[in-house]
Formats: sequence, structure tokens, C-alpha cells
Amino acid sequence: MVRLISILVGLGFVGVAAWSLLWGAITYVSEPHEETVEHRFHEHPKEASFSFNGPFGKYDRAQLQRGFQVYKEVCAACHGLTYVSFRNLEELGYSEAEVKAIADQWQIEVPSINPDTGEAATRKAIPADRFPSPYANEVAARAANNNALPPDLALITKARHDGPAYVYSLLTGYRQPPANLPAESRPGQGLYYNPYFPNLNLAMPPPLTADGQVTYADGTNPTVDQMAKDVSAFLAWTAEPRLENRNRTGIAVLIFLTIATILAYLAYKNIWGSVKERKVRIAGPLEPENIARSDAAKRDEGIAG
Ligand code: HEC
Repeated sequence: MVRLISILVGLGFVGVAAWSLLWGAITYVSEPHEETVEHRFHEHPKEASFSFNGPFGKYDRAQLQRGFQVYKEVCAACHGLTYVSFRNLEELGYSEAEVKAIADQWQIEVPSINPDTGEAATRKAIPADRFPSPYANEVAARAANNNALPPDLALITKARHDGPAYVYSLLTGYRQPPANLPAESRPGQGLYYNPYFPNLNLAMPPPLTADGQVTYADGTNPTVDQMAKDVSAFLAWTAEPRLENRNRTGIAVLIFLTIATILAYLAYKNIWGSVKERKVRIAGPLEPENIARSDAAKRDEGIAG
């Protein structure tokens, strides 16, 4: 009886599940969901080729230095780099003295405590400090940016799909909203149309507006496109400074695995080769030859069976 009830309950569950699946499928087919405005106007990041793409990718140190310069002169006014210390810049090819000078001349001072009074104060940055946020806290940051919060950029290329290409596209993607954009999706007060931003309207004013906004020491032409690309490469480095080590280790592991596979195959051949070639003979009374011989003997003797 209990078994019968449990079977019926089970069948009931299966029936309800099958019914809802069928009903869901019917509604899905009969009522195609409406395409949202964001879906229609949003664009995927542009194709951007960077030297660090692919398994053999390497950072271009000169490009990273240029990108750092763009960050320093443009983006640092609103964005911090919490996970990067000034001394990490040595990895970009700056000397210890240059890093010291960069930290010392940094516009934004780091939070500190006045040793005499114990009150909150600020002091000049030293190489061991992280890149400070330009704002004391989130409220101050929002107050200065039309209630939007400029995110910390240290990990932004990891936090967004197709990170470096996305940042590059975003920086070069500001434009007039298209004529057929519905009124409710048009940028409001303090917002800027940018089809690479998921909701199309971004609170960041276009940071790179004119060619020559920074002056590169290495003579590279500082077009908006070049500056956007350089700062995107720099932000890829801040998010993954060990990328080259990772690539190198990956390749070493692949070479090791290939050699290990070849050795394992040769060892297998060496150990099992002779065994496989060896012929197994059944000896004794069951050997076909012996059976035939004993049959013949029996026949000669006149023994039946
Ligand atoms: C005047 C201040 C200001 C400057 C200068 C500025 N930003 Fe922003 N940025 C913002 C604000 C505000 C937001 C948040 C926008 C939002 O949420 O709508 C933002 C957001 C971003 C985002 C995140 C977008 C996302 O997907 O959430 C990136 C990336 C970014 N900024 C990069 C940069 C870079 C690179 C520079 C320098 C070339 C720069 N910003 C300069 C204010 C600024």
C-alpha cells in the first residue's frame, strides 16, 4: 500500500514537472521576448590587438610607461589603484630613484596621522604606498561625480568581459546618441552616451578628448586612440602583473608534458613489446597436436572414444 502511494506521488511530481516544462516551451515559442533598448544599441568591445594577447603574449614596457603617464595625468584625478604600490612601477622599467620621485611628486597625498596631535592628516607618498584614491571616502567620491562612484581601476580589466578591449572601446566610444534612440534612454543630466557601457549612459565625462592631451617622452604621437590603448594596456598590467610568468610556466609545463608522454610511450614499448610478441603455446594433453596424436594412437590400438 505504502509502495503504491509513493509510486503515485512520484508520478504526480513527474507529471507536474513535464506539464510546466511543456507550458514553458509553448509560451517561449508563442511569445518571443521583447528586445530591450540596451540590447539593441549596446555594442561589443572593438577588436583591439595588444602585445600581451595569446599564449606567447608579453607586455610592451614602453607602452605600459605611456599608459601609466595617461593614468597619472588624466585618470588619477578620479580613480585610485588600490592594489598597486608605487614600487611596483619598477617592473615597468623605472629605476628606484625615478619611482621615489614619482611617489614624492604624486598630486594626491596618502592618509596619515599627525604624530603630535593624533589627528587625521595626509603626507607625501613613498614607494611602499599604494596609489591613493583621490577621495576620502565613497560619499565624497559620489558628491564630486554626480552621485556616481568612479571605481578603483586596479582590477577593472579583470572585472569586465574582454577587459582591455572594453576599456579601450569605452574611452574611444563616446558619441552623439543615435536619432532613433527612445527618449527614455537618452542621457540625462550629467550622463554621456556610450554604446559600450552596458546601460548606454555613463556618468564619466569623456576623459580623453583631444590629441596631444599628454606629451609622450618617447615621441609616440599621442592621439586619443593611442592614449586609450596605452592606458588600457597599463590597466591590464595592474590587474595581472604576473601574466608573462604565467605564460612562461604554461609553456614549460606543456613541453614537460610532451616529453613525459614520449618517455612513457617508449617505456611502455620497451617493457611490453617483448611480451606481446611472445607466442603462447598450450602444452600438455590439451595441445591440439597431442590430442591428434593420442586420437591416432587410440585408433591404432583399436580403442573406441
Ligand atoms: C572626472 C572624473 C573621471 C576621470 C578623469 C576619469 N573617470 Fe573613469 N569614471 C568616472 C566615473 C564617475 C565613473 C562611474 C561611471 C558610472 O558608473 O556611470 C567612471 C567609470 C570608469 C570605468 C568603469 C566603467 C564600467 O564598466 O563600470 C572605467 C573603466 C574608467 N572609468 C576608466 C577611466 C580611465 C582609463 C580614465 C583615464 C583615461 C578615467 N576613467 C578618467 C570618473 C572619471
